Amino acid sequence: MSLPHVWINTLKDHVGAEVEVRGWRNHLRSSGKLHFLEVRDGTGVVQSVFFKGGLSPEIFERAGGVPQEASVAVRGTVSQNPKQPGVFELQAKEIDVIGVPVGEYPISPKEHGVEFLMDNRHLWLRSSRQNAILKVRATIVRAVRDFFDGRDFTLVDAPIFTPNACEGTSTLFSTDYHGDKAYLTQSGQLYMEAAAAAVGKAYCFGPTFRAEKSKTRRHLAEFWMVEPEVAFMDLEGDMKLAEDFLSFIVARVLESRKEEMKILERDTTKLEKVVGPFPRITYHEAIEILQQNGHPEAKVGDDFGGDEETVISNKFDRPVIVHRYPMDLKAFYFKRDPNDPSLALNMDVLAPEGYGEIIGGGQREDDLAKLEAAIDVHKLPREAFGWYLDLRRYGSFPHAGFGLGIERTVAWTCGLHHVRETIPFARMLNRLSP
Ligand code: 4AD
Ligand code: MG
Repeated sequence: MSLPHVWINTLKDHVGAEVEVRGWRNHLRSSGKLHFLEVRDGTGVVQSVFFKGGLSPEIFERAGGVPQEASVAVRGTVSQNPKQPGVFELQAKEIDVIGVPVGEYPISPKEHGVEFLMDNRHLWLRSSRQNAILKVRATIVRAVRDFFDGRDFTLVDAPIFTPNACEGTSTLFSTDYHGDKAYLTQSGQLYMEAAAAAVGKAYCFGPTFRAEKSKTRRHLAEFWMVEPEVAFMDLEGDMKLAEDFLSFIVARVLESRKEEMKILERDTTKLEKVVGPFPRITYHEAIEILQQNGHPEAKVGDDFGGDEETVISNKFDRPVIVHRYPMDLKAFYFKRDPNDPSLALNMDVLAPEGYGEIIGGGQREDDLAKLEAAIDVHKLPREAFGWYLDLRRYGSFPHAGFGLGIERTVAWTCGLHHVRETIPFARMLNRLSP
């Protein structure tokens, strides 16, 4: 019997019709006269019901013996589950086993350790939670594009191989490039500054690399970053852009990933609060918050680690923008605050619920001599930045931008403890496989 193949999430459109569903065996439960065989195809899960009385003994027996994760095609009639509105079933007539598992499937319903699951990431991705995370991530990626495309930004791709350190020299992956040394990009920002002079409002979106030596729940060696850069925008405009952007992303997830949020048991009332204006505090005010909340030793000049960011962000029910850090803590390219040149015109956005920094950015130094001096202070090779300095030589312009890390954003919106689950195949200090 040949029947149209339909995806499980469209079964509601086929009630009463005979169809074929293809997927993998999830759960199988049998009583004497019935087998309830769950099929999963990535778009959903459907229970197919095999009733002994209505089937040949051969088909009934085959259905009862399908091993976990075998791939199957089940043909039958779509029906509405009488007890659960909106849930559909398949009254099965036939089943083919397409791919028979070789040996036992490594992941069983029992609790596995995280390392085991990460070693089996290629299989773990099939679980309902990981499926939900993949979908939320895809929705966020699309929201990112819709936000900037809808505001007349031009997507400009930044290179992956680069001669420049953008975010300090301690986290560079270097590689041989036809006899020269190249780095895997830490950020597309410097190239977006060039692009801003070409298209006005630019953004890049791609993988970036950091040889992070620390093992934390927020750090990956390879992560995806979206980086807008806007000509003639100042720090104030940058903060507003970041606020609008985050509100847009969260609203999109809430609107189009309700089912996934349920699977992830995410408390969405927390996300509903993510609307502008976001609180804005200075770095100095952030230090005071730390001093008053269990970090009496905190002092001006300290950088914030994960713990400090958690304490600060826990004071607010929506993302908080911390601006004007000491210049000494920040990358070479920031413009100094004219009112206090020891401070950078920068900002970090810290997500609530202890998720910490998800956005970093600010206004760029647009004065040639000052930028040259900063490159020297940071002991960066001036030769490698010749092209970047040209942007200050030929029609220098005030500009600002930021970078948002996709994985930290997914971790926060999904309510996940660790970024390793937010990217399909995580690259970390001790992990390059699968
Ligand atoms: O604060 P960062 O280092 O800023 C930049 O790279 C700027 N050049 C961006 C710009 O202004 N165009 O990184 C920006 C964001 C962080 O807030 C965080 O969300 C993410 O990138 N990020 C990481 N995510 C996962 N693993 C890591 N190791 C990350 N490092 C940064
Ligand atoms: Mg940062």
